[in-house]
Amino acid sequence: MAKTAQGRASGKIILMGEHSVVYGKPAIALPFEAVEVLTTVTEGEGDLTVNCAFYDGLVHEMPKVYESLKHAIRFSLYRLGVSQNPAIKIEITSTIPAERGMGSSAAVAVSVARALFASYEKELTESELWDIAQSSEKIAHGNPSGVDVTTISREQSVYFVKGQPIEILDVDLPGYLVVADTGHIGHTLEAVQHVADWIDIENQGGADLYFSPQGHIEILGELVAASKEALLDRDINRLGKLMNRAQGYLYDLGVSDASLEHLVQTAREAGALGAKLTGGGRGGCMIALASSADQAHSIAQALEQEGASQTWIQSLAKV
Ligand code: MEV
Repeated sequence: MAKTAQGRASGKIILMGEHSVVYGKPAIALPFEAVEVLTTVTEGEGDLTVNCAFYDGLVHEMPKVYESLKHAIRFSLYRLGVSQNPAIKIEITSTIPAERGMGSSAAVAVSVARALFASYEKELTESELWDIAQSSEKIAHGNPSGVDVTTISREQSVYFVKGQPIEILDVDLPGYLVVADTGHIGHTLEAVQHVADWIDIENQGGADLYFSPQGHIEILGELVAASKEALLDRDINRLGKLMNRAQGYLYDLGVSDASLEHLVQTAREAGALGAKLTGGGRGGCMIALASSADQAHSIAQALEQEGASQTWIQSLAKV
């Protein structure tokens, strides 16, 4: 066993396709390198301990709310063939705001698995990493589509359809993505459940005559497919329009909220080509598309003036 070993994982941003991806529609997601989780595993004495912003102590005494992290540790050790509580210390530091739609829980699981496998000097295959992180996500989010784990573990932009082979996307756009945190915790599980409830009502013949949740899901899927074409054509204006349209459908589905709507509107008024929520919604983060670095900075400034707790800018050009 190595004396110390590290594992890292970035955040993720869903450009298009949150929620509809749960229903077999495509999603486009990008690794978000501006934020990361770093896990350090050190050979220690005594018991298996974990130290992170929310907990410092024995793994087996972790409260129920950290069950997904506990699972990532236990399952990694199981796959490594380590059955007893090894005498190791796991330290997790993160710049990914938790529960903001940036894939924090998936990134924690991925970085923990990477660090533990590195500490035992064992190769971690893609499928093993997927099993560990996705099963941990199931504890955190119920029935996740897998888009978060796929994007974070692959460290590449993806065109993701649940249960289908992953398509890597070559994103190279003359533009910038501004990401803003509303400062409010997102409610992914609740938002996913809300959409599922709407669909149940519709299936039982009880939906509103003018609103079809399943129709919205279909359209969102079509908007994502069109966004892929826009990305491949490097047509940033079209992509922006598609993002705006998607936001309208996400709003109708009930997964936006006042804080997201306010920042989306602010970004558009500040010149964004498009703006929408990203991730689970009902709080959390939004994204805006800018055609230049200057424009991205003025959008970010406007968003901060209007209440964003934090903003980031990511270039969409290939490095
Ligand atoms: C969460 O990052 C994205 C959702 O589409 C849920 C999922 O894909 O599992 C809201």
